[in-house]
Amino acid sequence: MVDRVIAGVLPRVRAMTAYTPGEQPNGGELVKLNTNENPYPPSPAVAEAVRAACGGDSLRLYPQPASDGVRAAAAEAWHRPLEGVLIGNGSDELLAVLTRACLEPGQTVAWLSPTYSLYHTMAEAVGARVVELPVQRETDHSRALLDEGLASCNPRLIFVCRPNSPWGETVGLDELGRLCRSTDALVVADEAYIDFSHAESALELLDQHQNLVVLRTLSKAFSLAGVRIGIAFASPDLVVELDKLRDSYNVSRLNAAAAVAALQDMDYLRANCDRVMASRQRVIESLRTTGWQPWASDGNFFWLPCPGDDGRAVYSRLADAGVLVRCFDSPQLSGGVRITVGTDEQMDLLVQCLGNFN
Ligand SMILES: Cc1ncc(COP(=O)(O)O)c(C=O)c1O
Repeated sequence: MVDRVIAGVLPRVRAMTAYTPGEQPNGGELVKLNTNENPYPPSPAVAEAVRAACGGDSLRLYPQPASDGVRAAAAEAWHRPLEGVLIGNGSDELLAVLTRACLEPGQTVAWLSPTYSLYHTMAEAVGARVVELPVQRETDHSRALLDEGLASCNPRLIFVCRPNSPWGETVGLDELGRLCRSTDALVVADEAYIDFSHAESALELLDQHQNLVVLRTLSKAFSLAGVRIGIAFASPDLVVELDKLRDSYNVSRLNAAAAVAALQDMDYLRANCDRVMASRQRVIESLRTTGWQPWASDGNFFWLPCPGDDGRAVYSRLADAGVLVRCFDSPQLSGGVRITVGTDEQMDLLVQCLGNFN
């Protein structure tokens, strides 16, 4: 019976490997540095707005179909035209929309690796051909983009994560612009972590390149991972097409209220990110004085190469001490761990735990 049911599922879906998210332990005393959440709460305006949104009989009714309030707040926050904004249930939904919009089975999607592993899952789901150009180290990133040319594998879609997870490097705007000019593919700049970077946003390039999409999320810099809001900025014509593929009523009333409040408090966002960036600098410097060689990073995380290229051993020892970081099994990433920047107190504990290794 089970076999008969499963036989109805497409072979390529059955062959897929499910995306492996970072662990989300229930309760406990763990210091959670594994999924790049922000250690600080969101703007106080958020809770107030959510409470207000619960009032009256509003929850009985569907939300705005295209999240017009959130669109307007995002357009205003980043000075972009309303028609060029699409709101998703997290930027993950927007990544799924983009892959479904651009790729038929066998068509090519490309990126530099390592990068956000969900791109692979999305590509597999639609049967796309994946071209991953491996880069060796942070500084190789832009060069590989130029020299090997993501555009040369005839892709229909290219993902550029800037700053990139898990290594924290950022492809420059010059390189990105050149890439957009050299290809007819849709180029998606995934800027989930850009607010933690000194680099300029690719939003600056949008008016010059019709094939560019810029993704933002409220999950990281805005401290709203639990709320699930992603934003795509693109040409208005493209937004009309992508809008056909998002889920209906994809943003709940409560999520929309939280998002609008957060987007209207950009001063809070800046102060929040500045704190995280200061802690990033501090923890990287402390670790370097104790013999570790963490890589510089533009995100709210950093990459830590591990002794004996054994990231899992460091992961396990830290987990035993109550500190949860992210390790990966792929050969390219098994030699280190990715650590989210937490509060200064959390970083002090991390440095202390890692000090016990040496
Ligand atoms: C590079 C990158 N893009 C997108 C996302 C997903 O963001 P969201 O929470 O908005 O779905 C993540 C989450 O970790 C990420 O690392």
